[in-house]
Amino acid sequence: MAVTIHQLTKWKQTGRSIISLTAWDYSMAQILDRAGVDLILVGDSLAMVGLGYSSTLPVTLDEMIHHAKAVCRGVDRALVVCDLPFMSYQVSVTQAIETAGRMMKETEASGIKLEGGQPKMLEIVKELTTIGIPVMGHVGLTPQSFRILGYKQQGKIEEEANLIIDRAIALEQAGAFSIILEHIHSELAGKISSKLAIPTCGSGAGNQCDGQVLVTADFLGLSERQPPFAKSYVDLRQFITNAVEEFKQEVQNKKFPSK
Ligand code: KIV
Repeated sequence: MAVTIHQLTKWKQTGRSIISLTAWDYSMAQILDRAGVDLILVGDSLAMVGLGYSSTLPVTLDEMIHHAKAVCRGVDRALVVCDLPFMSYQVSVTQAIETAGRMMKETEASGIKLEGGQPKMLEIVKELTTIGIPVMGHVGLTPQSFRILGYKQQGKIEEEANLIIDRAIALEQAGAFSIILEHIHSELAGKISSKLAIPTCGSGAGNQCDGQVLVTADFLGLSERQPPFAKSYVDLRQFITNAVEEFKQEVQNKKFPSK
């Protein structure tokens, strides 16, 4: 049965962890979906891991939609959520509705994700959920703000930690169905998770979240560089390099193709 936003909340109530990975193309989405991933995020990390940009800032809405469509074509069961890219929603509520509306109309995604929990973002989340667009929040390290925050762990001092807690609570009240907690201390993530009825998904936020999300390029060992909190479950870079080496040898030695 296809995963719904309501299912995620039910899983939180029963203590069933949410398994989430990113995807940016059809074949990867199909593999992840068939392997039992619950939530597939078309993250704007696509900018770096799929398109070779140096940050998430340059990726455009058209690029995100193009990849989201491919991902959705590969998925039967998982909930697909797409990031709204930098400057496609921060300008105004109207801009956010138009952008999220395009994402929902042009792809088969079940919801969108946006970064931040400041008052303007809360207004945007409220409006989007009111018109029927499910929203996933994202607090802690928000990479679209890296020019101010850097990529370091957030919420280290009490004031900052309290602000992150307040923003997570406010996002839930505004209607978000789930929140990504990125690169914050495990205790802080645990505190936030216990205060919310909606599930949290951690990325570099310890093991007290209601689910975990990894960027698939990191998870598979495809990235040249990855954040310190990411874990690679396989070294696909090496695996592919070895396969190319074997192909080269076989072609040069006329072993492939056979007669
Ligand atoms: O864009 C992304 O991949 C993300 C991560 C937190 C998973 O937002």
